[in-house]
Amino acid sequence: MTIILGIETSCDETAAAVVRRESPDAPGEILSNTVYSQISDHAAYGGVVPEIAARAHVEGLDAIIARALAEAEMTFDNIDAVAVTSGPGLIGGLLVGLMTAKAIATARGLPLIAVNHLEGHALTPRLTDGLEFPYLLLLVSGGHSQILLVEGLGTYRRWGTTIDDALGEAFDKTAKLLGLPYPGGPAVEREAAKGNPKRFALPRPMKGEERLDFSFSGLKTAVRREATALAPLTDADIADLCASFQAAVTDTLADRMRRAFARYREEMGDGAADLVVAGGVAANTAIRTMLANLCAENDFTLHAPPLNLCSDNAVMIAWAGLEHYERGELATLDIAPRSRWPLDPAAEALIGAGKRGAKA
Ligand code: KG4
Ligand code: ZN
Repeated sequence: MTIILGIETSCDETAAAVVRRESPDAPGEILSNTVYSQISDHAAYGGVVPEIAARAHVEGLDAIIARALAEAEMTFDNIDAVAVTSGPGLIGGLLVGLMTAKAIATARGLPLIAVNHLEGHALTPRLTDGLEFPYLLLLVSGGHSQILLVEGLGTYRRWGTTIDDALGEAFDKTAKLLGLPYPGGPAVEREAAKGNPKRFALPRPMKGEERLDFSFSGLKTAVRREATALAPLTDADIADLCASFQAAVTDTLADRMRRAFARYREEMGDGAADLVVAGGVAANTAIRTMLANLCAENDFTLHAPPLNLCSDNAVMIAWAGLEHYERGELATLDIAPRSRWPLDPAAEALIGAGKRGAKA
């Protein structure tokens, strides 16, 4: 039996969780999942303010860890190891989580496991669905838009990434320029449901290109141009702009995923294949529906973790930590946080990609 405490502070969620499993062949079990979302702390600024985030982690983390242990009906005595996000993300927040984890590890004599936040997202369906390697991963969040081949624990190949904004960031910036609240994704989706997706002919960036990368900043600029030309905007204008934006995004993603499926078939052959979608943008119903249809057409099974495990949480960190712990992959106490930490070290850094290094 292995029991892991996970800690996540890389962006604007202060989170702790406890997971366990009987043996490496058994399914994992979530014993607690505690998240304090700082959304209200950042809403006035239309985005995450790193300094505010770091301070909020300092204020909240101890209580969140205590709650995660209490909900799991455990104390530090029951824990086998502490897993903590040590990158990528906002350095101030990462420091708070990492120093707290080091303190617990030192005081309680527990092993420390350094987890890559992106790997946490990537491995979640192994906990929720017992998914076997390999599989394709579409990670779309406020800080990342990536297509990855997940070959095995610690073996990831990045097939595509954004060359400018992350998809969630594009939703957030579009919402902001239309005067909608933060976070922008849910607000844009709500407005889009009322609007006409055909009213504005917005660009489909990168569509038709061979490489599997994304670009979203031109799309956001096109929305700004339309909005400026129309100002002052009516409610119908806003709804139509959101619907047209969401349609453009969905279309672009579909084009990239079709190509990713084709590449997967070329490299991995026919037969059973799986697509995992993760990150906060995976909450979007239009995007989920498109992915479900595309998977059905291409003989892929779609795995979308429940929404609370799709967006940032500590269960995914505890789980990734557990998989590494079982293989004896531990960190030393001198480990430093990394604001950048690509899952695929062989993938070249693309200009602008993950430039905020902020969210994943
Ligand atoms: O994974 P996440 O919770 O946090 C990180 O970015 O790490 O993702 C948050 C992002 C935000 O940009 C938010 O606007 C976007 O996910 N998002 C959505 C929706 N819900 C959240 N984007 C589109 N449609 C949604 N329903
Ligand atoms: Zn994330």
